[in-house]
Order: sequence, then structure tokens, then C-alpha cells
Amino acid sequence: MQNKKKNIIVANFKMNFNTQFEVENWLKEFAKVQERNRLIKTEVVLCPQFVLFERFVKNISGKDIFFGTQDCFWEQKGSYTGEISPMIIKTLGGSYVILGHSERKKYFGETNRMTYLKIKTAMKAGLTPILCVGESSEERNSGNMKKVIFSQLDESLGDISKANVEKVAFCYEPIWAISANTPDALLDANEIMGAKLLIKRFINDRYGEAVAEKARIIYGGSVDGKNVKEICIDAGMEGALVGSASLKPQEFGKIIEAFENNS
Ligand code: PGA
Repeated sequence: MQNKKKNIIVANFKMNFNTQFEVENWLKEFAKVQERNRLIKTEVVLCPQFVLFERFVKNISGKDIFFGTQDCFWEQKGSYTGEISPMIIKTLGGSYVILGHSERKKYFGETNRMTYLKIKTAMKAGLTPILCVGESSEERNSGNMKKVIFSQLDESLGDISKANVEKVAFCYEPIWAISANTPDALLDANEIMGAKLLIKRFINDRYGEAVAEKARIIYGGSVDGKNVKEICIDAGMEGALVGSASLKPQEFGKIIEAFENNS
């Protein structure tokens, strides 16, 4: 199901919801959003902290609602203290996993090579990776955006087969646009579309036109109910990776509505 070309709206809750009240409140408010919206054109993917994963799976149901995590390990099982196996994510009801997020790289030293190993194991376990790529502001300002994105794609995809690459969802997320304090400085629709075309070009060159055509590319970086039309829909993106705005169910609902109502 999740490989059909529907938009995907991914909630990356990060390390939030740290009290029972916050969790219960979110679940209650999200139920109202679900009542208002039948998902026709979109899939919604909820990615809570690992410890809340089962709670979300058990409390939310509905057509085209999926669950994912914000990371996973590159081995299926064994002596890896503190790590989470993609197999257990799948077993507990997971369908997706966000991989290569810039916060994993910044705070945990994840390299593109590690992202590659995680993609491989996650796919073996039956999870769909959401592969994040994006440049820092220095890389953008020095004219290196294309080089950076191509090398992230090159190293993170490694020798992943064409058949598997077809299943990967790609997220263009400029690092400097994450939870931006100055929303006016975000890219405009044309610039974001330019990044989408770059990712498509890479896929086209490496895996051919048919795979590039099918690839789902979404945008992440300060998406909210107000800017979603310009920075996602007008930019031709097939979904969004939403951090801060996903913590507010009604705001998250506006993002879903924008994609659902787009003709
Ligand atoms: P943001 O986070 O929506 O708060 O910018 C997005 C992300 O980092 O996935």
C-alpha cells in the first residue's frame, strides 16, 4: 500500500511528549483531526519516540495511518546495548523509518555509510526508509548544494538494488530550515522544486528514468499549516516531514487538509 504514489505526511515528534498528559492530549486531539479528514490522497506516518511506539499503534487506527520510528540500528539482533532493531519495529506494527536525519548526524556522528547500512537492514525487515538529505547554510552559500546532496545520496544508497530504491521515500530537508526562527528566510517554491529535480536527476542517472519517475520526494524544514501550500504543494513535493508543527494536532491537521484539498 505504502508504495503507491500517494502523498506522505510524516510526523517526526523527535524527543517530545514526555508526560502522560502530553501523550493523552495529543491522541485525543488527533482523533478529532481524523474525524474531520478522510484520507484519500495522503498517507500519514506517525513517528514517536521508541518507548511510545506501541502506545501510538494501539491507540490510533484508520485507513492510511502508518507508524514509523526516527531511527533504527543496522543489525537485526545481538549485543548492541541501547540500539533498536528494525525487526522489532516491524513486529510491533511499524511500516516506515526515518533515516539519515541531520540531527542523527550532528549529535550522534552518523555518517552516510551508517545510513546506508541502516537502509539495507530496515528494508530486509520490511520497513520503508524515509531517507533525509539536505545541505547546511554554509554548503548552500558556497555553491556546494548539489555536490553535498549527490554525495549524500551516493553514499547512503550504496549498492541498494534498483528494486529496493523504488521503495525508498526521499526527503529534501535543508539543515538550516529545520525549526527555523526566521520563517521568511525559507526557500520559495521554485528553489524547493529545484532541489526535487536534483534528487530526481541523481536517481535518473543511477537507476534510470522509470525509477526516477516513481520516486516519492517530500520536503522537510519548518512546514506548518500556513506555508505548506507554498513550500510543499506548489513546489511539487509529494508530502512533508513535519517536526514542530506535528506536536500540535490541529496544526498538523491543517497540513493534512492542505494536501487532501489540493486538486
Ligand atoms: P521542523 O522539523 O518541522 O521543526 O523544522 C522537521 C524535521 O527535522 O524533521
